[in-house]
Amino acid sequence: MYQAPRGTSDILPKEQPYWRYVEQKVVNICQLYGYERIDAPAFEDTGLFTRSVGEETDIVEKQMYTFEDRSGSQLTLRPEGTAPVCRAYLEHGLHNLPQPVKLYYMASIFRYERPQAGRYRQHYQFGYEAIGDDDPALDAEVIDMAWQFFESLNLHHLSLQLNSIGCKQCRPVYLAALKNYYANYTNDLCSDCKTRLKRNPLRLLDCKKSSCQEVALSAPKSIDYLCPECNRHFEALQSHLRLLKLPFVINHYLVRGLDYYTRTVFEIQPESGGAQSTLGGGGRYDDLIEELGGKPTPAIGFAAGIERIILNLKKQGVPVPPLPSPQVFIAYVGDEARDEATKLASGLRKKGIGVIEALGSKSLKAQLRQANTLGARHTVIIGEQEITSGTVILRDMTTSKQKTVPLNELEELLR
Ligand code: HAM
Repeated sequence: MYQAPRGTSDILPKEQPYWRYVEQKVVNICQLYGYERIDAPAFEDTGLFTRSVGEETDIVEKQMYTFEDRSGSQLTLRPEGTAPVCRAYLEHGLHNLPQPVKLYYMASIFRYERPQAGRYRQHYQFGYEAIGDDDPALDAEVIDMAWQFFESLNLHHLSLQLNSIGCKQCRPVYLAALKNYYANYTNDLCSDCKTRLKRNPLRLLDCKKSSCQEVALSAPKSIDYLCPECNRHFEALQSHLRLLKLPFVINHYLVRGLDYYTRTVFEIQPESGGAQSTLGGGGRYDDLIEELGGKPTPAIGFAAGIERIILNLKKQGVPVPPLPSPQVFIAYVGDEARDEATKLASGLRKKGIGVIEALGSKSLKAQLRQANTLGARHTVIIGEQEITSGTVILRDMTTSKQKTVPLNELEELLR
């Protein structure tokens, strides 16, 4: 028997109410903050991701689904959503529109990870990007939107973590200080961190191993190394966030796992969970568009994992509305009635009334049981007698009351 590949899952009908609930909140929040939808392809040139996410990141080093197609092109299933949006921004000349351009997406994301609860090889993200402005008020708005999104989902007990990791000017000085500090602790570091120290020292700060976390406790903090511009930006962002009454906490260890970030980085986490439970994260990436061949264009964005959102909705017992069940079930007794049922079902559907028609030659009792299981509001019953008299029996499935009604009044009654 075939099974879904490891780390992937089927979203069965019983799960769909959660997905539709989240999707509807996504559409609402994007409309409130003026974001338009964009859908990019599921795969891109591999170079787009190595270039933007960074050669030295876990995503690029270990997690990409890369393949060569029949024409020899190197392609990668998208391991994140920001780079494709930036590629589209450049490819379609969106810099000619009023800035910032605000785009959102809901898309499947592919990362070859070790699967566990809340961590999959294919997951879905809701993400949004505001491209073309460096005003700290925009950072605050992007963070506010993420926070209000979770509020609108009725998810509570979340924490908002914030940091600034500086820019091209000030980051090198900070990285030098970090390397200098860690040089005294090489023996205490895990093997991954020994490599990070050489290749990607920022990532030393968010290693999950307790021995490495202990070393990180007294490591230099990025905010102490910000250049005057980055410092002003970070101060202004914080005062905007206070204005919006957002309960942020500064987390000096927050560095994010993708290399394109500059200045603002932030994450939203359940209060009771570790880093693996992060619901969403984002930040500024002021150099990325230029890196991909455009003019210098500041930008900021955020993305959240939908499976993790749903796990938390369930954990917190948040009720989600059921999906509409079929309006009408049509049951019949006898072959002649079956033909009438088929004609009636077809006619009602053309009028926009949802119908499920019985199949086969089950007893009426069995057909009613099926209608009940399907959650139909009404069942229409047709037998020989009804055909002769031009009527049908209309049964209210909640009260079990039924009455004979003229066929030509049925549509109106159902409405
Ligand atoms: P990210 O933090 O890598 O950011 O992913 C965003 C969110 O996707 C995570 O917080 C998490 O909820 C979810 N997620 C990530 N990996 C998995 C996985 N393997 N299984 C389930 N859920 C997962 C980005 O991808 C950036 N592009 C976000 C961004 C947008 N930054 C700026 N704009």
